Amino acid sequence: MGIEILLLLVLSAFSVYFLFVQRKHPNYPPCIRGWIPWFGAAFQFGKAPLDFLAQARAKYGPVFTIAAAGKRLTFVNLHEDFNTFFMSKDVDFQQAVQDPVQRTASISKESFFKNHPACHALIKGRLTRSNLHEVSSDLCAEFNEHLELLTDEGAGDLSDLVRHVMYPAVMSNLLGKCNSPASKAAVQEFTEQFQTYDEGFEYGSQLPELFLRKWAKAKQWLLSLMKSMVLKAKRNTSPDTNSKTLLQHFLTILTDSFSPNYALLMMWASLANAIPITFWTLGFIISQPSVYRTVMEEIASSFGEKDKTKSVLSESELQQLPYIQWCVLEAIRLRSPGTITRKVVRPIKIQNYIIPPGDMLMLSPFWAHRDPRYFPEPEKFMPERWKKANLEKNVFLEGFVAFGGGRYQCPGRWYALMEIQMFIGLILYKYELTLLDSLPKPSSRHLVGTQQPDGPCRVQYNHR
Ligand code: HEM
Repeated sequence: MGIEILLLLVLSAFSVYFLFVQRKHPNYPPCIRGWIPWFGAAFQFGKAPLDFLAQARAKYGPVFTIAAAGKRLTFVNLHEDFNTFFMSKDVDFQQAVQDPVQRTASISKESFFKNHPACHALIKGRLTRSNLHEVSSDLCAEFNEHLELLTDEGAGDLSDLVRHVMYPAVMSNLLGKCNSPASKAAVQEFTEQFQTYDEGFEYGSQLPELFLRKWAKAKQWLLSLMKSMVLKAKRNTSPDTNSKTLLQHFLTILTDSFSPNYALLMMWASLANAIPITFWTLGFIISQPSVYRTVMEEIASSFGEKDKTKSVLSESELQQLPYIQWCVLEAIRLRSPGTITRKVVRPIKIQNYIIPPGDMLMLSPFWAHRDPRYFPEPEKFMPERWKKANLEKNVFLEGFVAFGGGRYQCPGRWYALMEIQMFIGLILYKYELTLLDSLPKPSSRHLVGTQQPDGPCRVQYNHR
């Protein structure tokens, strides 16, 4: 009985603190704190976070805080404030992601703060638009090889189809041929482990491994795979800088024992967002006859009579497929990451509010892309809206923030656009795809990364 009374007293003290003491900051944004001390609104928020954000925005306005699991998450929702989010010196990217990085890839705090700027600069430098020609023809050959392993006709889940071709091709391209899963069974095993890791990534970034046994096992499996990949990459290094893989470039700057851990993180970043977007782009195209027709006309006019089994698409040929690229960008717009994050390190003014240091500052690209002032008829898949973007000058549409912004904007964005466009062009040139199920809705359970489909989606494929 004594223990219960003590617990009750502690809980009451917490509640008084949360309800009264914390409210004494008239300049802070409105705060949704729930009624359970420390957990705050974590349970309501965690059930369907994207829907919760929309309701909170309607009720509390453009800036609000959610108290959840001992943290204060402050959301900025107006485009006018995005520049502050990305450019202010009072917010910090590294401090926002360090703890999740430690949990998901077991990289120590010291190693992360020491190596992160160089790692970011390296990926950004290797994968600029003007450097992509160094990797694009190999990637195209890989896609051809793996697409030709499919049977002439069949049916299966569209996400599985995308994964089975893209995983080994992208791994070979970024980590080296010697590090791509060599057999069907190896691809299958990798797919299962990576999917478990990816699906649990969001919880793994917040909770102790103790609560996530299966996820922790998949992480260990991937880390030991990365260890052997790093060894192979070191053995196969060539002195010629241009023939080094991204992983081999990494190994030239990473000197501590965490290189396999960085490799895991890089691999996750390169696959976790691009695979669902490839699924959605194909899904949107083949579910809309007029879009599908336009894509096929574009393919027919630029591929001509190429050999369907090994047609290599060069960089310049890809540029002749602008409509497919618009489809990719439009799928990214509609299925973009739930949130991106910075940590407030000094008080910062947004609208008429002061956001205190320690808050996590959050921006939702998913909801930002549904503002009709920037994207008329926002829920509609309209590739043509991208006609206005000046992609040659590396400029997206105003209001588009799927790749983040500022110094730590996604360094893989041009590679992502190139690989997805290339994959879509090739698969639709070789195969006729027909949806057997209706296109699923995005799952409402996740905030991290691009949106996942909330159910299976079968397609029929026939070699043309
Ligand atoms: C459609 C696909 C993709 C989307 C929507 C996407 C989006 C993002 C976003 C929103 C961020 C955080 C940026 C910020 O906070 O400002 C990010 C970071 C990152 N992305 Fe991407 N990304 C994609 C594909 C890729 C690919 C293909 C690669 C690698 C080849 C990649 C590598 C990275 C890395 C390494 C980071 C972390 C940067 C750092 O720690 O400094 N991404 N991405």
